[in-house]
Amino acid sequence: MTSKPTGAAALCFLLISLAVIIAVAVIQIHKKRYVSPGLKHGVVLDAGSSRTTLYVYQWPAEKENNTGVVDQTLRCDVQGPGISSLGIDTNVDYQMWHSMADCINKSKDVIPPTLHNTTPIYLGATAGMRLLRSQNETAADVILLTVQRYLQSLPFDYKGASVITGQEEGIYAWITANYLMGNFLEKNLWNAWVRPHGAETSGALDLGGASTQIAFTPEWEDRGDSTLSVMLYGYEYHVYTHSFSCYGRDEAERRLLATLVQKTSSSAFTENPCFPQNYVTTLSAKSIFGSQCTAIYRTEDYNPNSRITFVGTGDPGLCRETVFSLFDFTSCHGKQQCSFDGVYLPEVIGKFVAFSGFYYTAEALGLSGSFSLDTFNSSTWSFCAQEWQTLKAKHSTMKEGYLRSYCFSANYIYNLLVHGYKFNSLTWPLISFQREVSKSSIAWSLGYMLNQTNMIPAEAGHFKLPMSSSVFAGLLFTFSSLAILSLLFLIISFVHACEFCGRSGILAL
Ligand SMILES: *[C@@H]1O[C@H](CO)[C@@H](O)[C@H](O)[C@H]1NC(C)=O
Ligand SMILES: *[C@@H]1O[C@H](CO)[C@@H](O)[C@H](O)[C@H]1NC(C)=O
Repeated sequence: MTSKPTGAAALCFLLISLAVIIAVAVIQIHKKRYVSPGLKHGVVLDAGSSRTTLYVYQWPAEKENNTGVVDQTLRCDVQGPGISSLGIDTNVDYQMWHSMADCINKSKDVIPPTLHNTTPIYLGATAGMRLLRSQNETAADVILLTVQRYLQSLPFDYKGASVITGQEEGIYAWITANYLMGNFLEKNLWNAWVRPHGAETSGALDLGGASTQIAFTPEWEDRGDSTLSVMLYGYEYHVYTHSFSCYGRDEAERRLLATLVQKTSSSAFTENPCFPQNYVTTLSAKSIFGSQCTAIYRTEDYNPNSRITFVGTGDPGLCRETVFSLFDFTSCHGKQQCSFDGVYLPEVIGKFVAFSGFYYTAEALGLSGSFSLDTFNSSTWSFCAQEWQTLKAKHSTMKEGYLRSYCFSANYIYNLLVHGYKFNSLTWPLISFQREVSKSSIAWSLGYMLNQTNMIPAEAGHFKLPMSSSVFAGLLFTFSSLAILSLLFLIISFVHACEFCGRSGILAL
């Protein structure tokens, strides 16, 4: 009968297919066990002007050069001032070191002890230390040395403590934001990593305590050293970036207070239109004029210990006007593509993400994500119009020092983005105010670590495509289908054969 040889062939196929399926599965299991080297970790300390933040990152070791595989496993805010204020008050120093030790202990808890000595630890200091260094290089060196000794005493693999430049700060934050958003690589239909179709990157807006950074890829190829070329995964990006020193939130507010004092030096108290109505506070002259950013406002008879009383008037219109005067727009007069202080800025284009101080201010106004310029303006207006007691009752958990200043920050952000960077009602909604992407903070620290560990290869060929698992999946699918087909064929031949069973009494198979 014809079903005899075909039936045998089908049985043969079935056995081969089953053998292949078992072999593939066994190889896969063994591969998992022997090839997977587990997780790797890295620690970065972001030493900002107002505080230090510790981040712990982790990633699967075998996927080191892929995209979007680094997760933030810990973020710990060190209490107390930034490292640039160390050595002024021993009590304050003590608190900072104590809190630093707490954060380090937490990082030891999230990293397995056997991996501590192979886990890199980095510290990068930003604008607070840049300012101190330009003012007093010795003091800055002493602080860095102290911090270095401390980090070297830890069980981690110490890789360095340094002051990063404003340009580095800007570009690393841009890399972090775009890395986390998957703008450099994405998985295609075949499970391979490719550059996203029509790839567009997002600009990055960072507002720190002492400086503010903008970074984005302008429409036109650009001039000068304000544009950096970076090679990432085989593709070249031209990124404009600038860091405005003394334009961070804290230093800008210090400059505002200094100009207000200058204007009213004869009276017993100074009115501040950006502080809420009925808010009164007394500050030392040093806390205002002690900074490098306000040194030019010091008078001949400057006494750091004298005290100045401020009375809030909560006047949004006057606040905005006064904050406007913190920017020098005259030196841009007659120049094309100029932000302020004579600094060249190409036309802002595309999407932007605004984080750190930008995000916290929007959040205080009850806003996040994307919204219109009108919404931001009207929210600022109603926030500023609130009297101090009402404001305090509404935000009972917020520290006084922060709460009194959001009206200033909101008006500052308005002036910076609208008059400085020239965002308008059409381009403003393309800004997203957000703090993190899938639970990882948008901060320069991640981009810095990715760069230090060479985790973003310049050339596309350097990173491994995770094709192996899809090849295995394909093999499994093919042979499973073959097995099922053979089985079906066998059943059909068997049923066919049985039509003769009754007549001849012989089993066909
Ligand atoms: C901002 O909002 C206030 C109050 O709604 C309004 O008076 C003012 O004209 C607005 N400013 C701009 C520039 O839209
Ligand atoms: C990632 O890339 C770097 C530099 O290109 C290389 O040294 C490293 O071995 C790569 N890691 C993996 C897991 O491929």
